[in-house]
Amino acid sequence: MNEPDTPSQGLPLCPSEALEERGRAHSFDVLQWNQPARAFALRFDGEVVAYLNRCAHVPTEMDWQEGEFLDRDKQYIMCSIHGAVYDPRSGRCVTGMCGRMGLTKITVSEREGQVYWYPSRDTKPAFEE
Ligand code: FES
Repeated sequence: MNEPDTPSQGLPLCPSEALEERGRAHSFDVLQWNQPARAFALRFDGEVVAYLNRCAHVPTEMDWQEGEFLDRDKQYIMCSIHGAVYDPRSGRCVTGMCGRMGLTKITVSEREGQVYWYPSRDTKPAFEE
């Protein structure tokens, strides 16, 4: 079910073909609690998942290089700062200094070759269209 303030159609994010299986993520700008923040979407086991690019240990961006979030074996999202490890499917902390915290999930969908994301009460588009 959609959040009450979620546009039912979602906002276009990127073409489906831009997200290869366990490949480079698509990064995008959002407002989290009205503050600028980065987010990312990647494809894992065929599904597109998206999270705020903000580690649960220290609120900093996690990618090794722009769009590179996965560990060497491409099994987990790993923070490049101190190595916290997250499950790509759920964003939950697996090990490391993220404790019980996880990543902040962003709802996404995919249809007709296009990926969409859904703003929420907390996470809104960086630029009103
Ligand atoms: S900032 Fe991510 S593990 Fe420390």
